[in-house]
Order: sequence, then C-alpha cells, then structure tokens
Amino acid sequence: MTPSHPPSAPSNQYRHLRVPLLRRESVGNAYHVLSFEVPDGLPADPGQFVMVRATTWGNSPLLPRPMSLLTGGTTPEILLKVVGEGTLRMGRAEPGELFSLTGPLGRGWRGPHPARQPLLVAGGVGIAPLLFLARELASSGRRPLAIYGGRTSRDLPFSDDLEEVAEVHITTEDGSRGLRGRVTDVLDDLLTPESEVFTCGPDRMMAAVADATFARDVPCQVSLEAPMACGFGVCLGCPVPAVSGGYLYACQEGPCLDARRIAWYPPTSQRGAR
Ligand SMILES: Cc1cc2nc3c(=O)[nH]c(=O)nc-3n(C[C@H](O)[C@H](O)[C@H](O)COP(=O)(O)OP(=O)(O)OC[C@H]3O[C@@H](n4cnc5c(N)ncnc54)[C@H](O)[C@@H]3O)c2cc1C
Ligand code: FES
Repeated sequence: MTPSHPPSAPSNQYRHLRVPLLRRESVGNAYHVLSFEVPDGLPADPGQFVMVRATTWGNSPLLPRPMSLLTGGTTPEILLKVVGEGTLRMGRAEPGELFSLTGPLGRGWRGPHPARQPLLVAGGVGIAPLLFLARELASSGRRPLAIYGGRTSRDLPFSDDLEEVAEVHITTEDGSRGLRGRVTDVLDDLLTPESEVFTCGPDRMMAAVADATFARDVPCQVSLEAPMACGFGVCLGCPVPAVSGGYLYACQEGPCLDARRIAWYPPTSQRGAR
C-alpha cells in the first residue's frame, strides 16, 4: 500500500491455507498474538482480514472466526481477545497446531489521502488493523496521530508498538493509564478540518467517533466487526443497515468503509452517504 493508492477492492485473491502456528504470546487481559508460518507469504493490505479455524476443533465451533491481520507476509499475525469458545481455543493453541486460514479477505482502508492528517482511533483489540496502517504510514515517512482507549491499562495491547509509529493519546476508563475517560473525550480537541479519521473498536465507540466527524465534516472510515460465517460473500450473514436503504455486506463492502454509508443505531448526526 502507498499513501495515495486507489480505493482498496475486495480481495478475490484469497487462498485457503493450512498452516502451523509458529508462536502464541499472551498480552495483558485475555489477549493473545498468534503468528503463523506461511512460507510463500500472505500478501495483505492494512484492514484486510482472515477467517481462522484450528483443524483440531472438530465440529465445535463449526465456523471459522474473522480476525484482522496485524501483518501479512511469511509470518502473518493476528491479535485476539478471548470472548467465547473459538477465541478461547485460539488463546490456548500451541506452536505446531494446524490452522486453516482463508485470506486475505475484504476491503482494507482506502487512502489515506496525502493532503490530510491521519487520525487513528482504536478501542482495545481494534488496534490490530490500525497498527498495521500506522506501520505502513511510517514506512512511507508519515507519522499519524492516534487515540487508543481501553477499560484499564491491561486492555491496551501493542500500545508501545503504536507509540513507535504514531503520536499516541491514551485513555482508560479507570484512569490507570493516560487520561481517565473515553477516546471521544480527546477526539474533539485533536480533530481539525484537515483530519482524516480511521477507527476500529466496539460499535458504540465507532458510532460516537463517526458522529464527531460528521459534526466537523471530516472524512471517517470504520472497520466493521459484524459476525461473519464465510467471509467472502456467499452466506449473506454479515448485513449492516445502509443509509441508502437495504444492507451492506461487511465482508464484501468492508470491513473498512466510509462511516457515512452506515445507518448507525442509535442514530447519529450524519447527513447521508456521499
Ligand atoms: C472483519 C473482522 C475482524 C475482526 N478482527 C478481530 C481481531 O483482530 N481480534 C479479535 O479479537 N476479534 C476480532 N473480530 C471479532 C471476532 O471475530 C469475534 O470476537 C470472534 O468471532 C468471537 O468468536 P468466539 O467463538 O470466541 O465467540 P462466540 O462464542 O462466537 O461469541 C461470544 C460472544 O461474543 C460476541 N461476538 C461474537 N462475534 C462478535 C463480533 N464480531 N463483534 C462483537 N461481538 C461478537 C457474541 O455475540 C457472544 O456474546 C473481528 C471480526 C470481524 C468481522
Ligand atoms: S460473511 Fe458470508 S456473506 Fe459476508
């Protein structure tokens, strides 16, 4: 990716891989980084994802789980938070365990626009596609602003890595690190007419971030984490209400897309898709 590259198209170059787990590292509260061994490489843009499932799972859970890529290449990585059976099993996986990975999938981040100041807003595990983006920006000599929020200081995996490539403002709900509060408590002060916002995190956080950008007429992309069964447009299981009526399918139109295209609930101050 280069900073001025054209809009990312949904990947139809995805492959079904069967690869061993190289490493698992535990970070903070219930977070794990999994690295896989892909000798011929998994090329990916920031914001793209993979469908992940260990071959040892049997029939339960039956479906693979969508995970944003932290990196592509010969040792692609994912960062996961344990929330249910699939992520619990991934968080206990041992090196050598065989996984099926399907990817790279979906549309990554568009741009960023060379004339705008990128402002990345991450909540918890939403850091993954944004750290990938920040590293790409750094490799082309750009240093984005970033706001990174978690419930506590143990809910900020990769904050040190983010600080290497971005000017970071931290918030925690309990005040154990950075400003006590939420990412939106800092956002208004950092937004300027030249900003371009990229956000990933809990839906309510992204809706609030999008709302702030609508109020200032600043472009904003979100990375959607809608539940997904296939990841490549077959099951129609990832619908998101669209401002233009009907639905967007998150795995094909997204996961990264213009916040103005989404009919947010609760409603925001958006003025419609452009
Ligand atoms: C494109 C995309 C990228 C993602 N990237 C990451 C990532 O980098 N790291 C990460 O930890 N997670 C990511 N997720 C979310 C992740 O896929 C889910 O947390 C995972 O599928 C849960 O599986 P499970 O079997 O552990 O939980 P389940 O047993 O399936 O569910 C446990 C609980 O989590 C809720 N849940 C399940 N999926 C989601 C979801 N997508 N959003 C909100 N709540 C959910 C369920 O409603 C339930 O309450 C991503 C999702 C998408 C669509
Ligand atoms: S997850 Fe199957 S169509 Fe989107």
